[in-house]
Amino acid sequence: MSQQSIFFILLLCLLLALGSTSAESISKGTSITRPNCQSKCGNLTVPYPFGIGLGTGCSLGSWFDVNCNTSFTPPRPFIGTGNLEILDISANTLKIKNWVASRCYNQFGNITQDNKVSVDLATTPFTFSDINKFSVLGCDEFALIAGSEGRNFTSGCVSVCSSNRDLIDGDCSGIGCCQTAIPKGLKRFNTNLGTLYSHLNIWSFAPCGYAFLGDPDSFRFSVSDLNDTAFQNRTIENVPVVLDWVIGTQNCSEAQGSSDFACLQNSYCVDSDTGLGGYRCSCSEGYEGNPYLSLGCIDINECETNPCDENGICTNIQGSYTCSCANGYWGDGRKDGRGCITKNHQFPLIKFALGMSFGLLALVIAVTWLYFGIKKRKLINLREKFFRQNGGLLLKQQLSSHDGSVKSTRIFTAEELEKATNHYADDRILGRGGYGTVYKGILLDPHQIVAIKKSRIMDQCQIEQFINEVIILTQVNHRNIVKLLGCCLETEVPLLVYEYVSNGTLFNHIHNNGGISWFSWDNRLRIATEAAGALAYLHSAAAKPIIHRDVKSPNVLLDEYYNAKISDFGASRLVPIDQTQVTTLVQGTLGYLDPEYFQTSQLTEKSDVYSFGVVLAELMTARKPLSNTKTSKEKSLATFFVVSMKENCLFQILDPRVLKEGSLEQLQAVGELVKRCLKLHGEERPTMKEVVTELESLRKFTKHPWVQQQVQEEAVGLMSEESSDLYTVTIDPQFSTGEYSGQHNSGTTPLIYGGHGPR
Ligand SMILES: *[C@@H]1O[C@H](CO)[C@@H](O)[C@H](O)[C@H]1NC(C)=O
Ligand SMILES: *[C@@H]1O[C@H](CO)[C@@H](O)[C@H](O)[C@H]1NC(C)=O
Ligand SMILES: *[C@@H]1O[C@H](CO)[C@@H](O)[C@H](O)[C@H]1NC(C)=O
Ligand SMILES: *[C@@H]1O[C@H](CO)[C@@H](O)[C@H](O)[C@H]1NC(C)=O
Ligand SMILES: *[C@@H]1O[C@H](CO)[C@@H](O)[C@H](O)[C@H]1NC(C)=O
Ligand SMILES: *[C@@H]1O[C@H](CO)[C@@H](O)[C@H](O)[C@H]1NC(C)=O
Ligand SMILES: *[C@@H]1O[C@H](CO)[C@@H](O)[C@H](O)[C@H]1NC(C)=O
Repeated sequence: MSQQSIFFILLLCLLLALGSTSAESISKGTSITRPNCQSKCGNLTVPYPFGIGLGTGCSLGSWFDVNCNTSFTPPRPFIGTGNLEILDISANTLKIKNWVASRCYNQFGNITQDNKVSVDLATTPFTFSDINKFSVLGCDEFALIAGSEGRNFTSGCVSVCSSNRDLIDGDCSGIGCCQTAIPKGLKRFNTNLGTLYSHLNIWSFAPCGYAFLGDPDSFRFSVSDLNDTAFQNRTIENVPVVLDWVIGTQNCSEAQGSSDFACLQNSYCVDSDTGLGGYRCSCSEGYEGNPYLSLGCIDINECETNPCDENGICTNIQGSYTCSCANGYWGDGRKDGRGCITKNHQFPLIKFALGMSFGLLALVIAVTWLYFGIKKRKLINLREKFFRQNGGLLLKQQLSSHDGSVKSTRIFTAEELEKATNHYADDRILGRGGYGTVYKGILLDPHQIVAIKKSRIMDQCQIEQFINEVIILTQVNHRNIVKLLGCCLETEVPLLVYEYVSNGTLFNHIHNNGGISWFSWDNRLRIATEAAGALAYLHSAAAKPIIHRDVKSPNVLLDEYYNAKISDFGASRLVPIDQTQVTTLVQGTLGYLDPEYFQTSQLTEKSDVYSFGVVLAELMTARKPLSNTKTSKEKSLATFFVVSMKENCLFQILDPRVLKEGSLEQLQAVGELVKRCLKLHGEERPTMKEVVTELESLRKFTKHPWVQQQVQEEAVGLMSEESSDLYTVTIDPQFSTGEYSGQHNSGTTPLIYGGHGPR
């Protein structure tokens, strides 16, 4: 019933620290200790930083002193002055002799023996390695291991069995034997054994329980362990405890600067992974030996292991080696590289390689050529397909039948327009809309700035109309109508090329830039006259009149001299007839739409007159044709204007500038003209020609003298008093017959704008 407690406490030894570091005349490659130091204690080789003898200066510091007790045979090494017996020293670890905690019982369940184990490495550079496992042997046992210092932790396991027949040699999974892991950085632990049933049922074959920390690689559970009396004597000879050792408590970066940094030539420093500081040293690659000793890491002569080809020559260099080939051979000489090849073999090899590469080159060139050839052919085919699809043949035929008269029409190639728009670059976009996108293009031959309209995907049945419009538009030649220069049919959607008009839309000038100086009443009247002239020309020039169908201020462009240019004819026909497009169109143009046409679907040139009336009202009032901020009475400019005229309050709705610059009679007369244009019945509206005449005469009204003066100052070159040329443009008689129109829309979709002739 003796109860023993064994404490292994290592005492701090204040021994002499380092001895002199001089006198290191070590013969290369052999030294593992300091000069004049014993290297062996019994069978154990003790390498520096460990050293044999207490305070002899053979070690790096007192904790690395090895006490070789010669009173045993063979002598036994111990750590410092303590009682931890060293079994092995390696580069990173130390193996020491183990102690077993045990507890034995009699058949009545009384404890007959209880050995506890507590080991403390707190002040040493050693920690218990996490390689170790805590093992418990017995058939009615639980055991705890509690650690502290550096790392606080508790763990344990239970080992039970009911019969020794259940026990299996080598199996340590809870039946007669269990194991648990420990964490890194543990410096102190103690063990405690306990029992569940006081061994009453299993006493006959397992009277004791044992627990120990040790290297599991060296331990194999054996059934006979359960009554091994050696365990009761607290030793388990062949299962050591593994300790990690480090130098100091600083990490590498801290220690590197200090004078006692332990890693010497040709070595590098490795931080300890315990989290407690400290480092170890290791020889650099290509070196071997003891990194803690001066000249300890010596070059490895790799040539001894013959790493080169059998025909190669190995040359050892510091930290590495090189291979070369003997005379008559060729290659890098390395076994893991190209090796050495006789030069005789080399020649045909080169010839073969050259032949191969020329063959390959030829093949590559041929394939590339073929590839690009096919690609080009495909592209040409595609362009031809689009050309046909877009009605190119029809257009060509039409053009040839018109001979010289349509010489201004040009068919552009896709490449030409791509170049002109810099591959349809974003910074070339002039505008976007439901119809597509308009790009600014710069043609090279001849040099000319143009506007290129890229339509949306086109409906097959619209092609014929499209071609007709292209032809008609190229023949329309009026100074106040935007010129269509040509088109391109080689792309998936047709591209239209227009003359470039630089100063934006009338809409913008009225509603965004109304304040600028040139936009006087006089200039507004001039623009209105020009636009009216252009419309009159369209209505009267052909036997079947061309009806614009989409007259509105956004469709009146202004060129660099602020001359009006009517735009957007047939192109708006390209708008696909899907719901959203129609909706946006209705919204965009509703304020200008002739209500009679809207109701009856009967399109006449008077619809354009109505729309023009709205534009004129817009010019006078600077109000938008449809406003959502005003009361319902003021919602539609047309209605609002007519109502205001009726109520005799025209001057209250006019743009203040107009009111200031126009004479009252003149303004009243223009107001009356607008009112007539906006009549609900088309028949009551004047013709476009009448409108022009009236506007012309109104412009000659006397102005306020100061206004006249101002206008003359501002608008030099803007005035175009002569109007005679408005009607002097000749029209091809064939075109006048209208043979390209009439067979199109039935008029069921009155919201599709553009084109010519009633449907
Ligand atoms: C010492 O080593 C020799 C040879 O390796 C071996 O035969 C001998 O048993 C060892 N002695 C001890 C005490 O371990
Ligand atoms: C050697 O071991 C013996 C027996 O354990 C002990 O009496 C003696 O003091 C030890 N000698 C040294 C130098 O530690
Ligand atoms: C130990 O043995 C004594 C008799 O020797 C007995 O009285 C006692 O109950 C036992 N104790 C236990 C814990 O079994
Ligand atoms: C370990 O526990 C002890 C007492 O329980 C405490 O003083 C010490 O700070 C703990 N150490 C760590 C590292 O948590
Ligand atoms: C325990 O040891 C004794 C004597 O060495 C032996 O007779 C007995 O069979 C052993 N028991 C077991 C279970 O191994
Ligand atoms: C255990 O110690 C006892 C005496 O303390 C001794 O008789 C016995 O032989 C020892 N057993 C072993 C295996 O060392
Ligand atoms: C070394 O220790 C210092 C101070 O404790 C710390 O700031 C530094 O991050 C450590 N370096 C490494 C690599 O752990």
